[in-house]
Amino acid sequence: MAPLLGYNTNPMKIVVDGATHLLKQLPVHVGVIMDGNGRWAKKRGLPRTAGHRAGMKSVKTIVNASGTIGIKYLTLYAFSVENWLRPKPEVSILMHLLRDYLMSEIDELDAKRVKIITSGRTNDLEARARTILLDSIERTKHNKGLVLNLALSYGGKAEIVDAVKRLSRDLLAHALKPERIDEEVLRRCLYHPEVPDADLIIRTSGENRLSNFLLWQAAYAEFYTTDVLWPDFGEQDLHRALLDYQNRDRRFGKVKP
Ligand code: IPE
Ligand code: IPE
Ligand code: MG
Repeated sequence: MAPLLGYNTNPMKIVVDGATHLLKQLPVHVGVIMDGNGRWAKKRGLPRTAGHRAGMKSVKTIVNASGTIGIKYLTLYAFSVENWLRPKPEVSILMHLLRDYLMSEIDELDAKRVKIITSGRTNDLEARARTILLDSIERTKHNKGLVLNLALSYGGKAEIVDAVKRLSRDLLAHALKPERIDEEVLRRCLYHPEVPDADLIIRTSGENRLSNFLLWQAAYAEFYTTDVLWPDFGEQDLHRALLDYQNRDRRFGKVKP
């Protein structure tokens, strides 16, 4: 039977730069801002779209590597609400690549019991891409392995606005009193309240910003940036990020006893 991704409960050994390390704290939810496709292509004198195509290979590698190591939730920032403002041909290639990715990978993802979910304004996606995405979600909805959250037409601010809209409907229907609103009530209106807050957010290509990614869920996330461009980001780079995470002292505003 195919391996079940996202369920490795044993402490995992990784080899980074020839040295073996035992991972003592594994992030439950990793978010990745997959950046630098355009620059990767430019360095090679290729069109930006070639960078996006090359980036798909890294998506496959990182999904697999995350599952193997036992990460439970992986959110990939694939397309932001702001990315709609890019030139139309680039947007159209990105939608095409999304379709290609799901069509070519769905059998393997399903066999490895990956559960696909999406965060974002799915209704805005190109119709064919949206259909394939919804089919993939439906097909994998009972899978118990790695939860692969594809952030598509996603914005952290948009997510909070959408949550407030949902909340307002309950208020208007008198199903909720304003004084009952707290963080937990709002959190439950986010796209995927069953997904815990992010523990580790990785950004490639040397940028040090969130770019509207997981604003709510990043409240106490550890941030890891690397100069590596997304199409060059491989399993070793993920392991480096996980190794760095081992030494983070997560205090959540408290003091250590
Ligand atoms: C990330 O690479 C992919 C998306 C945002 C869809 P970019 O396309 O942003 O690449 P750079 O940042 O221009 O190099
Ligand atoms: C963030 O990258 C969005 C995704 C990776 C999908 P961008 O390249 O769009 O972000 P900025 O414009 O550099 O902040
Ligand atoms: Mg970019």
